Amino acid sequence: MTDDDPLFEPIELGELRCRNRVVMAPMTRSRAAPGDLVSDLHVAYYGARADAGLIVTEGTQPSIHGKGYCRTPGLHDAAQVAAWRTVTDRVHAAGGRIVVQLMHVGRVASRYNKPVEARTVAPSAVAARVQMYTDDAGMQDCDLPEALSLAEIPRVVDEYAQSARLAREAGFDGVELHAASGYLPMQFLASNSNARRDAYGGAAANRARFAVEVMEALCTTIGAGRVGIRICPANPFNDVADAEPDLTYGALLDGIAWLGIAYLHVIRSPLRRLDAFALARRHFGGPIVLNDGFHGDTARAAIRAGVGEAVSFARHFIGNPDLVRRLRDGLPLAGFDRHTLYTPGPKGYLDYPALPLA
Ligand SMILES: Cc1cc2nc3c(=O)[nH]c(=O)nc-3n(C[C@H](O)[C@H](O)[C@H](O)COP(=O)(O)O)c2cc1C
Repeated sequence: MTDDDPLFEPIELGELRCRNRVVMAPMTRSRAAPGDLVSDLHVAYYGARADAGLIVTEGTQPSIHGKGYCRTPGLHDAAQVAAWRTVTDRVHAAGGRIVVQLMHVGRVASRYNKPVEARTVAPSAVAARVQMYTDDAGMQDCDLPEALSLAEIPRVVDEYAQSARLAREAGFDGVELHAASGYLPMQFLASNSNARRDAYGGAAANRARFAVEVMEALCTTIGAGRVGIRICPANPFNDVADAEPDLTYGALLDGIAWLGIAYLHVIRSPLRRLDAFALARRHFGGPIVLNDGFHGDTARAAIRAGVGEAVSFARHFIGNPDLVRRLRDGLPLAGFDRHTLYTPGPKGYLDYPALPLA
């Protein structure tokens, strides 16, 4: 540890005052209870990691229609607000900051994983050619989605806004829009999943319109200083493909530039020729949180070089609840068992120990 360790300088991401620049990246862990409720498991899990400068929760559906996987938590009713409150209280009691990641999966969904009255919607009626696990029927193809009508789009935007309002009621410091991983906002952004011929399809600015409108609604509802967005330009995950990612993400970031949001969370692009971090810098004036494959030294180097202002870690946080201390003190990092990433219960979730204090 050195006194001038850039990972441990405090930072303000909009209204979010973070005591260090180690961000816990969002991770779906599929432990929600019936009713899509978080529980004591989540209180213990997030509470143990509260010394991160900022925790971004697992992807959380803003409506019943936004659910696609099994056992993901929701944030759209009073019981879910009360349950999340126990998590945010624990994190705040430990001096941490926590935002909820709003994840509407759109067409990456199986009807086996959602209530019967929930719909599977997307920009166009084009199925994602991927399979997903369901508790009731094993591996299943994703549903063929219904294309959202022009009249329905503002209602989906409003689902996000209402969820953001509930996030503040639940004690969250803010929200992060999940616009990566091939979920609903990225289905609008990508040219293979968006075949619309109206104002939401075609040119890059049109494909970006949905995500821009959601960001505007989130900022209007809880204030721009409490809103972030996560992107991963040109990631093909969940069967999205974009013929012109530079233009698409330039249009998105230009579209939200005036909002003055808290931060931009950028995942390294798998497309070799595309430097997503540099693209983010060109089109975004606020703080950038970098992600994907970092360890302590590369994170420090990236902050020192001005690539981004903070770095998020996902996998290292699984087996290292005390990751922040380990990074600070140069202690070895533990691995994790991938077989228990998404299984219910505490195994593989709460049983990774912190290192004993010297
Ligand atoms: C188990 C697991 C679940 C994940 N769930 C989410 C999620 O809900 N939302 C999201 O934006 N990214 C999710 N990711 C991606 C991570 O946030 C991160 O981008 C990725 O793991 C690369 O960062 P890392 O090298 O620090 O692990 C998940 C990753 C893992 C390993």
